[in-house]
Amino acid sequence: MKHYLQFNDLSADEYAYLFERAALIKKKFKAYEKHHPLVDRTLAMIFEKASTRTRVSFEAGMYQLGGSVVHLTTGDSQLGRAEPIEDSARVISRMVDLVMIRTYEQTKIERFAGQSRVPVINGLTNEFHPCQILADIFTFIEHRGSIQGKTVAWVGDGNNMANTWLQAAALLGFKVHVSTPRGYEIDEKMAVGAGGTSAGSYQFFSNPLEACQGADLVTTDVWTSMGYEAENEARKKAFADWCVDAEMMAAARPDALFMHCLPAHRGEEVEADVIDGPQSVVWDEAENRMHVQKALMEYLLLGRIA
Ligand code: CP
Ligand code: NVA
Repeated sequence: MKHYLQFNDLSADEYAYLFERAALIKKKFKAYEKHHPLVDRTLAMIFEKASTRTRVSFEAGMYQLGGSVVHLTTGDSQLGRAEPIEDSARVISRMVDLVMIRTYEQTKIERFAGQSRVPVINGLTNEFHPCQILADIFTFIEHRGSIQGKTVAWVGDGNNMANTWLQAAALLGFKVHVSTPRGYEIDEKMAVGAGGTSAGSYQFFSNPLEACQGADLVTTDVWTSMGYEAENEARKKAFADWCVDAEMMAAARPDALFMHCLPAHRGEEVEADVIDGPQSVVWDEAENRMHVQKALMEYLLLGRIA
């Protein structure tokens, strides 16, 4: 049994399979062709933080695969009344076939997985957002081909998205130019994780414009992630120069793409003319969450389909 708790949990070979499978699953979806490998299977989705894309993509995706879903939040389950996470895992995983969790600390999802009888998927923690990077790389491949040897510029917070990009770079052989304000740097050890080979896969820049130079993809995220709202005012000041604008896009390669996991704040981490401009692929990126997660759920439950 495999869990998907961080990007490092799958190999480059497994990612190659998933990207191919996601393309096929997407093609079938667009053609209204039935694809029901998960009939009678149930996905439990546990949300301790808000969501639009993750909720809709997992829920719609599971139904499209022929399965069904149970949606739980902290407020409407015993999770919010201090039932130990291990006990919740023992109970929930006896009744469903797959669990997706969006929560705070990575340790919480690891504790759940430790007691789960079924595969667990990380739908975002403070530390990682692997399903999003899976969709982002799939989107890059759709538009530009292989990401191997390419350069991604990360402009903004050293957060869950940045950490996951670093894991992916080490695993899939591309480079990340990271520019964060002072005090919001990436924790390199955590980002790369056990077994990760980071040599040459990332480089730090104090100037975000320099980070964008020669990049094939420029990407950013909110200045204040969920769970850090108390720091909002301090962050607004610290991040003022980390707004992706036309000048940064002009420093990147002429065919560079722009991505943002969304939700976005125009005029904060990105200017409207960039996110709504011709280089932006944010809507494909959002849609692709569903296609790659369908491939992922199928893989975790059924393995490779010949
Ligand atoms: N990108 C993403 O995970 O969006 P939601 O918070 O809406 O799920
Ligand atoms: N970094 C953001 C991503 C939201 C999808 C957060 O954790 O809130």
